[in-house]
Amino acid sequence: MSATMDELFAAALAARLNAHAPYSRFAVGAAVLTASGRIFAGCNVENASYPVGSCAETGAVAAMAAAGERSIAAVLVLAERPITPCGACRQRLAEFGSTETAVHVADPGGVRASYTLGALLPAAFIL
Ligand code: THU
Repeated sequence: MSATMDELFAAALAARLNAHAPYSRFAVGAAVLTASGRIFAGCNVENASYPVGSCAETGAVAAMAAAGERSIAAVLVLAERPITPCGACRQRLAEFGSTETAVHVADPGGVRASYTLGALLPAAFIL
């Protein structure tokens, strides 16, 4: 893995340790790499009122936006097995990414597959 990929992986792995997933018991970590080279991470945060819970990607995107960043170059999602972002999170990523934004999926052992956001959310709605 490249240095940047290593950092993205490490950030998602660390964030996943803080996942609050007592209902699904499915901990997820995500990290976004901005066009300026910064990395922001998030974890899923579930709630007793199930629909109120949020995905790891949602947290990572919120942290990125709060820091003033607006452009996502790459995303890495890490869970016990490789998973791609849910539909709503694909839309969240599309807000700040492009069709070329890399979406890497990983398990704790490493990155297992890579996609583009354009492949995961074709013909996306953007304004
Ligand atoms: N989850 C994520 O955090 N990211 C995804 O891409 C898919 C699903 C979370 C939501 C919920 O807390 C748990 O995984 C099980 O669905």
